[in-house]
Amino acid sequence: MSLKEKNRKILVTSALPYANSPLHLGHIMESVQTDIWVRFQKINGHECTYVCADDAHGTPIMLKAEELKITPEELISQIHKDHKESLENFNIDHANFHTTHSEENKELSELIFRRLEEKNLIESRVIKQLYDKEKDMFLSDRYIKGTCPKCKADDQYGDNCEVCSGTYDATELLKPISVLSESVPEVKDSEHLFFKLSELKDSINNWIDSSFVQPQVVNKLSEWLDGELRDWDISRDKPYFGFSIPGHENKYFYVWLDAPIGYLASHKNYLDKIGDTKTFEECWKPDSDYEIYHFIGKDIMYFHTLFFPAMLKHSDFKTPDGVFVHGFLTLNGEKMSKSRGTFILAKTYLDNLDPEYLRYYFATKLGPGVDDVDLNLEDFKQRVNSDLVGKFINIGSRSAKFINKDFNNALASQLHNPELVKEFITIASSIKVLYEARDFNKAMREIMSLADKANQYVDKMQPWVLSKTNPKDEVIQQICTTSLNLFRILAIMLKPVTPELANKIAAFFNDHAYTWNSIDEPLLEQNINQFKPLLGRIDDQSIEQLIKPEK
Ligand code: MSP
Ligand code: ZN
Repeated sequence: MSLKEKNRKILVTSALPYANSPLHLGHIMESVQTDIWVRFQKINGHECTYVCADDAHGTPIMLKAEELKITPEELISQIHKDHKESLENFNIDHANFHTTHSEENKELSELIFRRLEEKNLIESRVIKQLYDKEKDMFLSDRYIKGTCPKCKADDQYGDNCEVCSGTYDATELLKPISVLSESVPEVKDSEHLFFKLSELKDSINNWIDSSFVQPQVVNKLSEWLDGELRDWDISRDKPYFGFSIPGHENKYFYVWLDAPIGYLASHKNYLDKIGDTKTFEECWKPDSDYEIYHFIGKDIMYFHTLFFPAMLKHSDFKTPDGVFVHGFLTLNGEKMSKSRGTFILAKTYLDNLDPEYLRYYFATKLGPGVDDVDLNLEDFKQRVNSDLVGKFINIGSRSAKFINKDFNNALASQLHNPELVKEFITIASSIKVLYEARDFNKAMREIMSLADKANQYVDKMQPWVLSKTNPKDEVIQQICTTSLNLFRILAIMLKPVTPELANKIAAFFNDHAYTWNSIDEPLLEQNINQFKPLLGRIDDQSIEQLIKPEK
């Protein structure tokens, strides 16, 4: 990772959600993790651009549109609107949320493919595949079921057996059946294009050594790289919703080829929109001084750490500086599943609760590793109520009261306890390190222990006792100015996580928009506003609404 302190130029992405269903809280966790890091970079004065898009191609999207009796284009445009709205409502600060079904992506995918072809890294081979005559299409593994050739268990999918964990080729399945038409598929030859990954082990190893990859991910990668690295089938036959492959009739790019190129396409589309004709080339040339990072879930590591860097490298683009992998979100300790009612849509959450609650909770749970994260609803409620409302907001409300009431809304010209404020400012630099390292849960713990300290200070000073005897005593003003400054520093420290709250607090102080450096300048003699309740407690009812079975 870059050690440069000043003026870093960073491009960040999170994985592109499939355009066939609405977003759930697992997607939101990834976006929030990315967004916190991006906002942190920005308030530290770095140029940080966060792009994302919908992943609009592939068989499931084609079939879903068919089922809904609309065109795939209609489906993906409806879903795009819906995804965009949910992400905006969670305050995800994208520079651009594009789609892979776009002109930019088509051009870039073709360009990358052509360059790989020129370097002799694409090979055509004839393979045997199961073919559904009724649907007139080749079947991918997920659309085939049959009896496991190894243990003879019935009802197993095309590539592996859930009973004996055996893996096999779909053509080896006994009594295969098409999931789509329930007919018996036949084996048929088809010509496919392969990206010769097996020849690129060295260059993949070089990439791993020279970029940031979490230790757990490196372990997984060495497992793959120690074994046989197979060439990658990048073509699909029609019918397919995707880009056709230039020079290869009736062949389409496999969705996973053009999906990560969608990161570049979204960036390009953004730059074109703002009339920037230089940055794309500058950012994506091999010796670029931009830093590029991808946030992804652990299920799609393979694509981002093997295929994608290899593709970029051998088509003369810059390779990622880091891939940040996170674990899966579980709900009350269980895998999120529609049928078990342990599945919360982004929209359901937003209908019931403030996004900042969940952004905060995710921050308390997310670390730099790849462990799964559990959303325990009871813990969520308690954590938010006791930390954000009970500790943090409380400092503001109990201190502002006196300034509003007895000091004409004016902060004192000096602090009653400058050392304490200084201590907060000093600790801010270690919190900065934690944010940079995506160690958000440690950062939140530090911030909340500072909130405890601020409350202890107010408890000890007891401004309410002083106020009883002499309400206009300057000392009360100075004490409350001290605790309000602590409150302000905490708000700035939390800004990447709870940006709305930080903005409301800046407005309450009649302050400028906060950057990280605002922490260093105590606020004195300022006229502040009436303190209004900034965030209420989460009640049981809203929590129950989250897991109410769908009507
Ligand atoms: N379309 C691909 C990604 C292409 S990136 C070039 C895809 N889409 S997805 O919608 O299935 O997942 C999008 C992201 O959400 C992935 O990073 C995935 O790991 C993440 N998550 C999906 N379910 C999740 C949880 N339950 N928990 C956390 N993240 C999860 O994969
Ligand atoms: Zn088996």
